[in-house]
Amino acid sequence: MKFDLRNAINSISDVVMNRPAPLREFDQIYMKVADMVIQAEYVARVFDGKKVVFVGDGDGIALSAAHLKAQDVISYGPKSITLLDFDERIVNSVRRFGEKLAPKIEITAHLYNVADPLPAEHFGAYDGFHINPPWGASNGGQSVTAFLERGSQATNERSLGIVVIADDPDLPWTQEVLRDTQLRAIELGYVVSEMLPQLHLYHLDDAPDLRSCSCLFRRVSQV
Ligand SMILES: C[S@@+](CC[C@H](N)C(=O)[O-])C[C@H]1O[C@@H](n2cnc3c(N)ncnc32)[C@H](O)[C@@H]1O
Repeated sequence: MKFDLRNAINSISDVVMNRPAPLREFDQIYMKVADMVIQAEYVARVFDGKKVVFVGDGDGIALSAAHLKAQDVISYGPKSITLLDFDERIVNSVRRFGEKLAPKIEITAHLYNVADPLPAEHFGAYDGFHINPPWGASNGGQSVTAFLERGSQATNERSLGIVVIADDPDLPWTQEVLRDTQLRAIELGYVVSEMLPQLHLYHLDDAPDLRSCSCLFRRVSQV
C-alpha cells in the first residue's frame, strides 16, 4: 500500500467538512481522521471494482474511499456505493457529495431503518457490505447482529463484509460481542477472512481510548 499521505488527508478533510454534526442519540460517534484514512484505503482495496452497500455510515467511510479514488490518491476503489441510513441528514450529505463524484463513481443513498425489513430492491443486490453499527454494550451485541443480518441479506452468494466494532481485550463486553458476531456470521455462511484488531479511535469523550477492529468476512455458503 503506497499513497501520498498529505493528498490522502486533504481528501478525507473534504469528506469531514461535508458531514453533519454527530448525534449521540443516533449512536453517531465519529472516527478520528488518521484512522479514517486507514479504513477508507482498506475499504477501497477490499472492494475494488465491486458494488458495495454501507448499512449506516455517519463517519463517511464510503465517501472517503470513493473520493480517494476520484482524486487519484489511490488507483482502486468500489464500482458503486449505496448508503442505507436512518438519519436524513446523513443521507442528504452523502447525496450532495456523491453528485460531485458522479462522473467517476455511482453513489446513491436511501433512508432506511435496520429495524424495518430490507426493501426488496436491495436483496442480494451488492457484492459487499460495510457496517459500523452501535456496538452493543447495552444490548448484548444485538444491534451488531441486526446490522450484520441486513448487510448479509443485501449481498450476493460470494459476498465480502467488513464489520467495524469495539475491540479492547481489557473490556470483556467487547470481546463477548466480537465472539457472538463471529458466531452469527458463521451461522450466516461466512468465515473470518481477515482481522485487523484495535485499529481505530473515536471522538468519544467518555471513552477516548476505546478502539474498534475491522473484521473482514467472506461468504463461503448460502444459508
Ligand atoms: C451507529 S453509527 C456508529 C458510529 C460511527 N462511528 C458513526 O458515527 O457513523 C453508524 C451509522 O448508523 C446509523 N444508524 C444508527 N442506527 C440505525 C438504524 N437503526 N438504522 C439505520 N441506520 C442507523 C447512524 O445514523 C450512523 O450514521
